[in-house]
Amino acid sequence: MGIFKRIFGICATQVPANSGCWTYAGGKLEVLLDKAPELSQKGGAIRLEGPSLPKRVLVVHGQDDAFHAFPNRCTHLGHRRIDPVPGDDKIRCCSVGKSTFDYSGKLLSGSAKESLEPLALESDGSKLVITV
Ligand code: FES
Repeated sequence: MGIFKRIFGICATQVPANSGCWTYAGGKLEVLLDKAPELSQKGGAIRLEGPSLPKRVLVVHGQDDAFHAFPNRCTHLGHRRIDPVPGDDKIRCCSVGKSTFDYSGKLLSGSAKESLEPLALESDGSKLVITV
C-alpha cells in the first residue's frame, strides 16, 4: 500500500458490491455468502459499516480458509481501519504505523500497544453470523 494512502488512512478493503449481503439485528450481523463474492477466495475481505451497525466490522476469508471478523478500528491512536495482508495470515492497519495482528487479534508489530478483540463468528457454509 502506498504512503499517501497510509497518510490519509485509505484502506484497501471495500464495502461489498451488494449491500444486501448483510443484515444486522439484535447484536447479530448476518452475511449471506452467495451475495458476497468478495469472500469466496482466501484473502478476500469486506468492510461493513453504516448507521444500523453499532461498530464497523472487517470480515476476512483467511489464508487458513476460515472466516474471521474484527472490529474495524486499529487499537492505535487514530482508530484507522484494518485490512488483510495479501498472501499472509495477518491483518494490518492502513495507517503509517502499520500495526499488524494475527487472526487471534494478537498484536505482532507496529505502533499500537493493544491487541484486537476478534468478534465471535459462526458459519454454516452459506452464511456467517457475527456477534457484534
Ligand atoms: S492508527 Fe493504526 S497504526 Fe496508527
